[in-house]
Amino acid sequence: MKHLLSAKDLSHDEAVMVLDTAEAMAATQRHAVKKLPTLRGKTVVNLFFEDSTRTRLSFEAAAKRLSADVISFSAKGSSVSKGESLKDTAQTIMAMGADAVVIRHSADGAAHLLAHAGWINVPVLNAGDGKHQHPTQALLDAMTLRRWYDPCGERSDGSPAPQGRDLAGAKVVIVGDVLHSRVARSNVDLLTTLGAQVTLVAPPTLLPVGMEGWPCEVSYDLDATIEQVRPDAVMMLRVQRERMSAAGGGYFPSPAEYSHSYGLNLARRSAMPEHAIVMHPGPMNRGLEITAEAADDPRSRVIEQVGNGVSVRMAALYLLLADEGNQL
Ligand code: NCD
Repeated sequence: MKHLLSAKDLSHDEAVMVLDTAEAMAATQRHAVKKLPTLRGKTVVNLFFEDSTRTRLSFEAAAKRLSADVISFSAKGSSVSKGESLKDTAQTIMAMGADAVVIRHSADGAAHLLAHAGWINVPVLNAGDGKHQHPTQALLDAMTLRRWYDPCGERSDGSPAPQGRDLAGAKVVIVGDVLHSRVARSNVDLLTTLGAQVTLVAPPTLLPVGMEGWPCEVSYDLDATIEQVRPDAVMMLRVQRERMSAAGGGYFPSPAEYSHSYGLNLARRSAMPEHAIVMHPGPMNRGLEITAEAADDPRSRVIEQVGNGVSVRMAALYLLLADEGNQL
């Protein structure tokens, strides 16, 4: 594989291989000196047309830990605000000698366009395009789940998963603003490829039309789903108010109503199986989709997800760059 554009592009074995590589990368991060010489002399360009904290910082950390040089570009303060096109920006960046481009953009398909329009000829890694895909987020979620889910039904302690393991049998409930979420889409694709069973829970107004083909269950009732599915993990999605206000709002009656029906609180946390973990891609709206108590609960893996993000992005950069894409 030359690019990492969509979780859909990964076969079962490729996904397991990326996760195994991420575990190998994580093992190196426990050493006093974290830097590996693998990508010395290569330049990774981060093109961020949309705001980001975790994803941008962790792609940057991942590239630097592999000894690559990093050029970071954010649209604010650049000539994009003067109307420069994606094509011109891409070509400018290429002229500076990039070996890989990481892109986040508010338009669905932007990463695909950059990879296939013929403007550049280096690997493109999609760091989130509109409502469409965010494959490295799904990979870091899968890495977190693989560490905490034990297929033998025993309580797992979060230690590195054995090489080759997938997520067969894991039950994952994803809750909230599915309509605007590239995280939900990418996770439905990747987690089911890895054998997990996924249930999406949202109010009807926050579900996209045309979900018939999605390989998952859909419910409007969070309490009933927790009771019936007995999930191994519950992943909360951020209510994406910036995308809602652009469309005039009105997706749910009030924030209090939303929290009441779809928020994760300690009561719902206690209704989940003892071993189940709580996930959220961040940034969290504390008090809206998750209470502070649930976010800081001992079974919350939110901070660990961020750490795993660095390992997964190191793996992706390594597999696409160090081996000229021959492994992926
Ligand atoms: C997500 C994103 O940007 O898609 N965040 C992230 O990458 N950590 C989810 C979100 O913004 O809600």
